[in-house]
Amino acid sequence: MAYLLVVDSSMRGDASVSRRLTGLATARWLATHPSGRVVRRDLEAHPVPHLDHVAGAARRTPPDQHTSAQAERWQLAEELIGEVRDADAVVVGFPLYNWGPPSTVKAWVDNLFAPGLSRERGTGKGLLGATRFIVFATRGGGYGPEAPKYGWDHATPWLVHALSALGIVPEVIAVEMTLSVVNLALESFRPMMERDLAVAEAAIAKLW
Ligand SMILES: Cc1cc2nc3c(=O)[nH]c(=O)nc-3n(C[C@H](O)[C@H](O)[C@H](O)COP(=O)(O)O)c2cc1C
Repeated sequence: MAYLLVVDSSMRGDASVSRRLTGLATARWLATHPSGRVVRRDLEAHPVPHLDHVAGAARRTPPDQHTSAQAERWQLAEELIGEVRDADAVVVGFPLYNWGPPSTVKAWVDNLFAPGLSRERGTGKGLLGATRFIVFATRGGGYGPEAPKYGWDHATPWLVHALSALGIVPEVIAVEMTLSVVNLALESFRPMMERDLAVAEAAIAKLW
């Protein structure tokens, strides 16, 4: 049965813009796939372990020679990669934290790298390209060419490059200036956020 994989990572609960957008996308997908189901991975509530020496060794050692600790980490890679590979589509809520990705998303993506599972052994060819992948990038500030911090968003460029090594070409829908709602000094930027939100909502209505 077709399923939508929904990956959230915001620490802001109900105030989260990215969670609201993954929620709207989920509703849209369910409306157009009435017999589909939704698989959720909330990285904030249930982070996956960082790539450490055990996970590294599990990737260099043939599975039939794994220690039990390595087997556990290989099994996790199989589970996470299978979840993406077999999904009809993946939607990811992706806040900007300290000019980079949430560390939970970094750890999740690190775990998606495994030779023979997500990348062809020898060639390194990405094997996850068949899955549609949509990212809702939310940023408190603005990072366009006119912005003082242009070039400081290191999250989205990293994610796009990392996923490309797995064969994935993500569709990125961004909402900037979300801090204009909570920071009075940024209030004048609220129309920019509202414009981004309207564009994001229109894009979601056309996803499926
Ligand atoms: C820990 C933390 C770090 C943040 N760092 C940045 C930052 O570097 N640049 C920025 O523009 N906004 C930053 N923000 C603001 C978030 O990007 C903004 O609140 C965004 O809407 C978060 O996504 P969410 O609404 O889904 O929670 C930060 C927020 C938090 C909680």
